[in-house]
Amino acid sequence: MCGIIGYVGPRECRDLLLEGLRRLEYRGYDSAGLSLLGDDDIGSVHAVGNLERLRDAVADGNGHLRGSTGIGHTRWATHGRVTEANAHPHSDTSNRVHIALNGIVENWSELRAQLEAAGAKFTSETDAEVVAHLIAQHLDGDLTEAVRRAYNELRGHYAFVAMSADHPGVLVGARKECPLVVGIGKGESFIASAIPAFLAETRNVQLVQDGEIVELTSEGTRFVEPVSGQPIEREVEEVDWDDEAAEKGGYETFMLKEIHEQADAVAETLAGRLDSEAIDLGDIGISDEFLRNVRRVIIVACGTSYHAGLVGRYSIETWARVSAEMDVASEFRYRNPLLDERDLVIGISQSGETADTLAAMRLARERGAKVLSITNIMGSQATRDADGVIFTRAGLEIGVAATKTFVAQVIAMQLFALKLAGLHGTLGPEVTTTLITQLRRMPHMIAELVDSVDEQARRIADQFKDCGFFLYLGRHVGLAICLEGALKLKEISYIPTDAYAAGEMKHGPIALLDENTPVICVATDSPVLDKMMSNIAEVQARGAHVVAVATEGTHVDAEEVIKVPRTDWLLQPALAIIPLQLVAYYIACARGLNVDQPRNLAKTVTVE
Ligand code: AGP
Repeated sequence: MCGIIGYVGPRECRDLLLEGLRRLEYRGYDSAGLSLLGDDDIGSVHAVGNLERLRDAVADGNGHLRGSTGIGHTRWATHGRVTEANAHPHSDTSNRVHIALNGIVENWSELRAQLEAAGAKFTSETDAEVVAHLIAQHLDGDLTEAVRRAYNELRGHYAFVAMSADHPGVLVGARKECPLVVGIGKGESFIASAIPAFLAETRNVQLVQDGEIVELTSEGTRFVEPVSGQPIEREVEEVDWDDEAAEKGGYETFMLKEIHEQADAVAETLAGRLDSEAIDLGDIGISDEFLRNVRRVIIVACGTSYHAGLVGRYSIETWARVSAEMDVASEFRYRNPLLDERDLVIGISQSGETADTLAAMRLARERGAKVLSITNIMGSQATRDADGVIFTRAGLEIGVAATKTFVAQVIAMQLFALKLAGLHGTLGPEVTTTLITQLRRMPHMIAELVDSVDEQARRIADQFKDCGFFLYLGRHVGLAICLEGALKLKEISYIPTDAYAAGEMKHGPIALLDENTPVICVATDSPVLDKMMSNIAEVQARGAHVVAVATEGTHVDAEEVIKVPRTDWLLQPALAIIPLQLVAYYIACARGLNVDQPRNLAKTVTVE
């Protein structure tokens, strides 16, 4: 998740762009850059590190970087290391076309080969740079037409903004799934990944829909359909957000904003890693040879990351038929575990700084095991305490209660499990292709689900907000989701809540039930759904209220049934958690609590 900003108008725009990048820094901040169109050429500055570094680099330029047409970018590296050369904006060989891109260009390597064969000189390791060279290749007096032609050759998931030294006063943006929005000012126009980037300057916005191109000048905009080149009408809407709301993207809290960013977080985490019949995680730092001969996988983590690990364990054992264990890190590190060089230990930590998880990873290394880190933060300690890393790409998560990083971790674990299955030849090509096809659709399904269950979640929250105890039940991979759903309710509503393997309920917790108890059941389709149905019947027999999360097309007898789209049963967790996040969220809001900063909790637990 990167941040893009662009300006065209009468004003000197260097500081406008820097301020826009500051407001987008939550999207990525490992490096940044600006390009401004001066008198007759484009000046550019890149810097590694946070925005202060870029400000310093711009200041060092003694004001050389000037212009009233410009673009800026703050990066969250996916392709290519964190270096100045890999920072955006990128340019073509003649430095006449500059672009800033958020997302992934999946067919970049074949395009790069073609462009290099045609004489293009590349200066970075990124996938994005091909876009600058491709536009330059098509440029023939009309920047928008060149962008349109380039757009139709690109495959992937991205949004970008282009400028050309031969077309002063013009910016052209293009969107394919990644967010892009335009701001209309008086005699000036803005374009960005998110509205807060220019909200201090204008409240008049035009949303760029998926699969659209937009040309910006100081006079206004022109929207174009990329394939036909036909013009598209687009209304201007007024945004009534104050600054605080702006930081939250117009949502009332960071948690709700991040719940709505889950589709993007999953799309980013998947992007560039799905081939038609196989998973390509690139160089994760651990060899395929080792993974083919691995004896056992042990996953260690804390809190929400532990629950993602549980889903990962089921996925590894079911798809790759490799023995997999899961342990909370604070227990693993003191249980004197038996490990050797044939074992792989996976440490999951969104922050990459959780003390118990880091200690567990270090212990594993000392005992000779290979260690893989799954983290959301580049440069975090976990990346240094591991032999290999798989990054989730959820962007910065500010709400203490993890949401988008959880679904991104689940997806990252499932990508790893599918890669392992590919190396062990345990899944036929048909099954693999089906799973990959469903993973590709996951961002879309999540985006739709967040909106479609919102009203039902509010109703359920309103019905049970005053209850003094909740029980969550699940089986198999559904257990991980009921544990996570319960954790969300506990940490933001402070209601005493328990989560149990449904088969265990009759061995004790059933005593907690009465006609006032809400019981949240994760009853998505799975090999044990009928068992789950019997547990629901046991609960109903005690008069308790049952709210069930179920798969489209299945029948579950409960007071409230929240349906999630049908996929392979092992892909249900990333969907099933969403209604549970929303129910917990609305209950906490109904109780007037600060969901972004719950009591007694820190976003990152660096103490043991
Ligand atoms: C989850 O909502 C909590 N913030 C907490 O349980 C968290 O998951 C745990 O502290 C682990 O954090 P990590 O993923 O950064 O290691």
